[in-house]
Amino acid sequence: MTNARAVAVADAMPDAAKALADRLGAKVMDTDAIINDAGIDAVIIGTPTTTHYDLIQAAAAAGKAIFCEKPIDLSVDRIRDCLEAITAAGVPFMTAFNRRFDPNFAHLQRQIKDQAIGNVELVTILSRDPSPPPLGYIKTSGGIFRDMMIHDFDMARFLLGEDPIELTAVGSCLVDPEIGAAGDFDTAAVMLRTASGKICQISNSRRATYGYDQRIEVHGSMGMLRADNVLETTVELSNSAGMRKAVAQPFFLERYAAAYAAEMAHFVQALETGEAVTPTAQDGLKAQILADAADAAARDGLPKSLPF
Ligand SMILES: NC(=O)c1ccc[n+]([C@@H]2O[C@H](COP(=O)([O-])OP(=O)(O)OC[C@H]3O[C@@H](n4cnc5c(N)ncnc54)[C@H](O)[C@@H]3O)[C@@H](O)[C@H]2O)c1
Repeated sequence: MTNARAVAVADAMPDAAKALADRLGAKVMDTDAIINDAGIDAVIIGTPTTTHYDLIQAAAAAGKAIFCEKPIDLSVDRIRDCLEAITAAGVPFMTAFNRRFDPNFAHLQRQIKDQAIGNVELVTILSRDPSPPPLGYIKTSGGIFRDMMIHDFDMARFLLGEDPIELTAVGSCLVDPEIGAAGDFDTAAVMLRTASGKICQISNSRRATYGYDQRIEVHGSMGMLRADNVLETTVELSNSAGMRKAVAQPFFLERYAAAYAAEMAHFVQALETGEAVTPTAQDGLKAQILADAADAAARDGLPKSLPF
């Protein structure tokens, strides 16, 4: 049971602010007023990525705990600036890598920690969107490695339990040539290796005809852990033509509904109990460094050493 309460909502679109405030029983205020309100302890930043930097700086200076959507920023240097501001202010900061809180993935990671499969040797992460985002988004998103695979880079670190030191990447445009013309890839794969030799493979596609596809497999010295994709129902039709399962869930809002609730519950609980907030701003920075390295490697075809 929490004593936390959503007290105010800001949005550049007044109708959107009012609709959410009404649902939460909160007030509509502008961002400056929220950040400077001494009665507010924490802020949730869920605005477009380009707005995060200024909001983080202001919220940190005002001593607020901060929950910020990923990515913190598209520039590693600007993320470092934010880290400095957060550290100087001594405020809790959470980077919203929601997938760590997905019940299946969280359970899988706990099993790794409990040594259920011995030492981790190979991690495989598959992530496919049902269809590409609008071209306008592609042009400003920072590309497939920064807007999509960023989640998988964080998941890779979460499951490997150590930082990768080496990365190779390939990218192709197989879904829509317009994405290629906009300078991005729509199909990509990355390999990571850690100092102790653990290997992680990540593959992304901006198309999956059967719905949102999110799977993980971890192979270890004493066994294997696998988290299958989550389907719309568990009902399977069996007849003389074969056995047919449901399609996958449509997209992230449905697939990660429980994860979004759990990450917010963690943030609130950590603030109330004083426990550490995780994933941290450092986790946000490291995922961004991996995304930058992958983008460069896919473009020049060369392996990258990572500065961790
Ligand atoms: N974790 C996830 O699964 C996930 C999924 C989607 C998006 N995101 C991240 O969430 C963030 C928001 O993405 P989105 O697609 O919802 O963006 P969006 O463009 O839909 O904007 C979200 C809201 O912010 C408002 N807004 C825009 N500029 C503002 C400003 N200066 N001040 C106050 N309000 C402002 C918009 O009116 C809108 O209601 C991005 O950083 C994105 O990367 C995370």
